[in-house]
Amino acid sequence: MTTSPVSTDVLIIGGGAAGLSLALRLAAAARVTVLTKGPLHEGSTYYAQGGVSAVLDAGDSIASHIEDTLIAGAGLCHPEAVRFTVEHGRTVIEWLSAQGVSFTREPHADGGADYHLTREGGHSHRRVAHVADATGRAIQTTLDERARAHPNITLLDQHIAVDLVTGRKLGLTGNRCLGAYILDRSSGRVEALAARFVALATGGASRVYLYSSNPDGSTGDGIAMAWRAGCRVTNLEFMQFHPTCLYHPQAKNFLISEAVRGEGGYLLLPDGTRFMRNFDVRMELAPRDIVARAIDHEMKRLGAECVYLDISYKPAAFIQEHFPNIYAKCLEFGFDMTRQPIPVVPAAHYTCGGVLTDLHGRTDVEGLYAVGEVAFTGLHGANRMASNSLLECLVFAAAAADHIRPQLDRAPQRLVLPDWDESRVTDSDEEVVVSHNWAELRQFMWDYVGIVRTNKRLQRAQHRVELLLREIAEYYGNFRISGNLVELRNLAQVAELIIRCALARKESRGLHYTLDYPKASETAPVRDTVLVPVNFAGADAPPYWGE
Ligand code: FAD
Ligand code: SIN
Repeated sequence: MTTSPVSTDVLIIGGGAAGLSLALRLAAAARVTVLTKGPLHEGSTYYAQGGVSAVLDAGDSIASHIEDTLIAGAGLCHPEAVRFTVEHGRTVIEWLSAQGVSFTREPHADGGADYHLTREGGHSHRRVAHVADATGRAIQTTLDERARAHPNITLLDQHIAVDLVTGRKLGLTGNRCLGAYILDRSSGRVEALAARFVALATGGASRVYLYSSNPDGSTGDGIAMAWRAGCRVTNLEFMQFHPTCLYHPQAKNFLISEAVRGEGGYLLLPDGTRFMRNFDVRMELAPRDIVARAIDHEMKRLGAECVYLDISYKPAAFIQEHFPNIYAKCLEFGFDMTRQPIPVVPAAHYTCGGVLTDLHGRTDVEGLYAVGEVAFTGLHGANRMASNSLLECLVFAAAAADHIRPQLDRAPQRLVLPDWDESRVTDSDEEVVVSHNWAELRQFMWDYVGIVRTNKRLQRAQHRVELLLREIAEYYGNFRISGNLVELRNLAQVAELIIRCALARKESRGLHYTLDYPKASETAPVRDTVLVPVNFAGADAPPYWGE
């Protein structure tokens, strides 16, 4: 077991595609500590299927990738963030290949091989580099191995960051981020870890919903910690629901990649009718918000428990070669996708909003960066296009590393932070309160803040989340903390921010659809929903280039 250091140059909270690529890019110049709250591999990255989008085909172009991203984002993408990300696509794919990720290749007659590219919703070209249908597993395990082997990287798994330490919290002048308080889940102790720089790479918050494609840890910890530290958060109303997760009580919303539709899969009603033509000319390959909403609409209209995804008309060998993992998983649950349609439902999948950053990954708090799904960079607008997320993780990790590296020598470092104060807390005798609150939160977020919203539903949810937050604050103040309590506190905070953003948007756009304003506003200016905390870090903040 690795013992926790008391100080490090760069503390990276999160060990997915964003966190580990940032660590690897900095490790030649700095001592880096990476925290993961569970096992090292466990985060959304490991479960990614479709792949990483990048312009790699001679018939494709940067302009086309930019245009597709802007269209999917429904008027809210920041063009400079989109261009910056797309232009770095090839470089990060080559970096991953150099780390050892074996992308699926397409052999040529002359013995060479190009990347095999798939197509997904919103993309007008084949543009998604992949490792069969388990791209995330290949990326995560490769980066894990690289990070474990690096002498400058300390990996601390089963360590959950509780809160950031800032100058303001310690009564110092300036509000630099100085480190974090960390709960070691095996000992139950909370330790302070001081750092010159801290990067949040904690992933998204999709577990705020009852049904989600994400692993358990997507509880929005980084968003909540940054908010409490004085950072602005942006566009949290845009929670993305993936249209096709396997519908089976034991499947835990196992994702059926959009690449299945990209390779020709049809969506069918229970009676076998293909229905997407009634919703969008792009049919099954329309952007996700449209497909998920269409499925939701049809399920509600028919009182159906699911719809079906059918690719069984393709040769069995083609399906097994392209989708070996999905094929095997479906078979486990009794569905042979080479012979029959498989039952699917939408589930919460991706957090498009997050902690506001600039193009270097800088947040409002000096010395604090946010990279990956936790961040709002302006790339995704009102709806993320498929396979643009891993791309964003990799591009912004490189950008943040480039920004941190030259500052390492001159960045201040406090070597010791005040101890965590446990003098007024006791052991909880009512852990059951925590699990009840988890269940209640996810249920009302699903019912009232889901694919289709109304003002009334959002107000109901707001009322409930405020009660929960009060209860959780009391519990947090009186009892010794546990990992579950830390996550619940964060999830409830993020739920409150999602609801607040959703109430502020008086129109339907992209992933935010409300029956009270069913169209995009034609009169109000198209703008992001930016929430500013009462303790806004303010003066030192980088400019918000969306304004
Ligand atoms: P994650 O990979 O989620 O990692 C988060 C890390 O933070 C974990 O290590 C976790 O332990 C740690 N952490 C969180 N909170 C704390 C804390 N308080 N203290 C310590 N550590 C903490 N995107 C694509 O572009 N292409 C795809 O094909 C694709 N497929 C997907 C399929 C599935 C099933 C899912 C769920 C997502 C998919 N996505 C895809 C989205 C993409 O995988 C994620 O957006 C991306 O992997 C996020 O990476 P990340 O590094 O930001 O966070
Ligand atoms: C998928 O494979 O459908 C997921 C892709 C993504 O979320 O970008």
